[in-house]
Amino acid sequence: MVSYKELGLVNTRDMFAKAVAGGYAIPAFNFNTMEQMQAIVQAAVETKSPVIMQVSKGARAYANGTILRYMAQGAVEYAKELGCEKPQIALHLDHGDSFEICKECIDNGFSSVMIDGSHLPYEENIALTKKVVEYAHAHDVTVEAELGVLAGVEDEVSSEVSHYTKPEEVEDFSKRTGCDSLAISIGTSHGAYKFTPEQCTRDPKTGLLVPPPLAFDILAEIEKRIPGFPIVLHGSSSVPQDEVATINQFGGKLPDAVGIPEEQLRQASKSAVCKINIDSDSRLAMTAAIRKYFAENPAHFDPRQYLKPAREAMKKMYIHKIMEVLGSNDKL
Ligand code: G3H
Ligand code: 13P
Ligand code: ZN
Repeated sequence: MVSYKELGLVNTRDMFAKAVAGGYAIPAFNFNTMEQMQAIVQAAVETKSPVIMQVSKGARAYANGTILRYMAQGAVEYAKELGCEKPQIALHLDHGDSFEICKECIDNGFSSVMIDGSHLPYEENIALTKKVVEYAHAHDVTVEAELGVLAGVEDEVSSEVSHYTKPEEVEDFSKRTGCDSLAISIGTSHGAYKFTPEQCTRDPKTGLLVPPPLAFDILAEIEKRIPGFPIVLHGSSSVPQDEVATINQFGGKLPDAVGIPEEQLRQASKSAVCKINIDSDSRLAMTAAIRKYFAENPAHFDPRQYLKPAREAMKKMYIHKIMEVLGSNDKL
C-alpha cells in the first residue's frame, strides 16, 4: 500500500474548490510517455498551474501502471527541481471501469480516481460509484463519477450517439454517491473526430468545418440544481487545424478531423466546469512534429532528435491551454 501523500501528490478537493470559486478550470492531461510527462510538468511549472496527470486503461496497458505511478512521483520531484516549491499535481485514474481497478490505483499511489458507470442503468451506476467513494474517501482519495454518455470510445465502452446528462438526476446522484466531481455529457466526445461533416457547417471563407455548439443550456440547468458542485468535461480537445494540416501535409491522413472550439471551452471554464480533459490534442501535436521532422530530416534515426521537437510542441500546446483557454495559470 502506497499513499499518494508519500509521493508528494495531492487529491483534487482543494484544486476544484478554488477553480470553481475562481472561475477557471484545472487541466487534466493524459500521459503515456516520458516526453508527455516532462512537457506537462514544464508547462505547469512555467505557468504556475495546478495540473492533473491522468492515466487511462490503455495507458496502463501500454506503459505499465507501476511505471506510470513512478513517473508521477518523478513529476513531483522534477517540478521541484524546476523551481516550483509546492507543486499541485494529482495522479488520476481516467475512466476506471470497476471497483477493483479503482482500488488497485488507490492502493498504489493515485490521488484521484474516476469510476465510469455512465453506461450502466442509473441505480447500478449509483451503487458502483458509492462503493468506490467509500473506499476512496477512507484513503482521502477523491472520486469523479459520470452521468450521461459521450459519443465515441470511452476506453472499451463505445457509443454511436451521445446521451446528454439529465439535469433532473444530478442532485440525487451526487448526494447518494458522495462523489467529489461529476463528468457530464453536453456534446463533447473523445478523439479527433468529434462531429461528422454532416453535423457541421462550413466557414465560407476558410472552408473549415464549424461544429455545432455545446449544450450550455443543460450545463446551466445542472449548475442551478447543484450550485458550486465541481463539473468535469471529457472529450475537450480542440483538434487544432494547423496541426491537422501539418500531419496531412507530411503524409498523414486525417480528413475532416474536428474538435471543440476553444471559445466554448473558455466559456465552460468560467462556469462550475473545473476539470477539462485533453488527450487528443497532445497526440496531434506530437504526431505533427514527428511527421514534419522525418520529412525534413530523412537521414536521422536517433529518437532523441525527433522526440525533442515533439516534446516542445506538446509543451507549447499545454501552455496555450493553461493560459489562453482554461485560465489556471498563476494559481500556485
Ligand atoms: O478517454 C479517452 C482517453 O483519450 C484515453 O484514451 O484509452 O486510448 O488511452 P486511451
Ligand atoms: P479528447 O479525446 O478530446 O482529448 O478527450 C480526452 C478525454 O476525455 C480523456 O478522458
Ligand atoms: Zn474521457
